[in-house]
Amino acid sequence: MTATAENTQATSSDEHPVLVDVKGVKVHFPIKKGVIFDKTVGHVYAVDGVDLQIRQGETYGLVGESGCGKSTLGRAILNLEPPTEGSVEFEGVDIASLKGEELRRKRKDIQMVFQDPMGSLDPRQSVESLLLEGMKAHGLAKDQKQASARLRELLKAVGLPAAALKKYPHEFSGGQRQRIGIARALSVDPKLIVADEPVSALDVSVQAQVINLLEQLQDEFDLTYLVVAHDLAVVRHISDRIGVMYLGALVEEAAADDIYTKPLHPYTRALMSAVPVPDPVIEDRRERILLQGDLPSPANPPKGCRFHTRCPWRQETKCDTERPQLRTLDIAGVPASHRVACHWAEQIESGELEMHTVTAQITSQSDLSEGGDDFLGPASVQEAL
Ligand SMILES: Nc1ncnc2c1ncn2[C@@H]1O[C@H](COP(=O)(O)OP(=O)(O)OP(=O)(O)O)[C@@H](O)[C@H]1O
Ligand code: SF4
Ligand SMILES: [Mg+2]
Repeated sequence: MTATAENTQATSSDEHPVLVDVKGVKVHFPIKKGVIFDKTVGHVYAVDGVDLQIRQGETYGLVGESGCGKSTLGRAILNLEPPTEGSVEFEGVDIASLKGEELRRKRKDIQMVFQDPMGSLDPRQSVESLLLEGMKAHGLAKDQKQASARLRELLKAVGLPAAALKKYPHEFSGGQRQRIGIARALSVDPKLIVADEPVSALDVSVQAQVINLLEQLQDEFDLTYLVVAHDLAVVRHISDRIGVMYLGALVEEAAADDIYTKPLHPYTRALMSAVPVPDPVIEDRRERILLQGDLPSPANPPKGCRFHTRCPWRQETKCDTERPQLRTLDIAGVPASHRVACHWAEQIESGELEMHTVTAQITSQSDLSEGGDDFLGPASVQEAL
């Protein structure tokens, strides 16, 4: 589905069956220390309690700062990263419960498109061999005539000539390589494609072509997408619904248009306030919410609301002690599909609570040194996006 009439599509997609059901998923990576004994000294709480559903035929966009757990969640949905807790059901079946042939068959239905097409394509394999690999593994290339017809069909679908079959990845431009990556994902006739930053390595002009291609293919091949991206414009264009992640959890989820026109979580408000508006008059007048302080380490996430160390609406009660759940809001005109994880979302929206300045807080240095610098996020939302 395209995002040209997001609200209508979101409504109609509500009637579509749930394809992916993520239930309370946590992915915690142990932090090991010691030369002789591999002692676990802590955990990186990369994904820390996510519930979301992706309906058949929709595009679900996942956004958030670098290190908030988007890729890890995508990998958990593919079962490449087994959840520490919780489950991922695909067509009603818990993927982790599958083994052998059943798991192999299910894997065929869920494919991935990667950020770096060069890194994900073996440079020693021709395009033909790259495309045939998955087809052979899933018994889709038994008849040679049918297989070569399918290869030509795949190339045509992604806008490449049949002559590309005999070439190697280095002979193509970045955009063409991403088209090969997409053809490879399509080759096994999947139901869900998880696209992790599918265009962020490409030139801006090529990005639009690849995004348009993904949209066309969705209708043609009856696909469902999970698109992970840090570029809010890309996600808005392609998504029916959007989930905003912060430190391992969803803080807001709504139809794409609703997230952009009426962000209700303080973090989403800050993200959206950083997106430039094409109209110079509105651009000059609009309010910017500049977040203070670093993104805390996922090895030492703040207690209570994870966003409280940077939130301009933080309150003395609840914010530091109670972790808010994703919930529907009691605000007229806000649909039940728009869910927000903030104790005070209603009062912030009504203006009862006003923004205040935030004094930057430093998370425990001992925890940071255990996790290492790798676990630090960018200094600000602007830097990240
Ligand atoms: N295999 C791993 N072992 C330990 N920590 C990991 C592992 N994979 C990811 N992490 C950590 O988990 C956190 C979430 O990482 P993830 O790659 O999911 O974030 P992301 O939102 O995709 O970021 P980006 O936008 O930079 O791609 C980060 O702190 C990362 O360093
Ligand atoms: S719960 Fe409190 S700290 Fe968290 S986003 Fe809402 S107001 Fe801010
Ligand atoms: Mg990532």
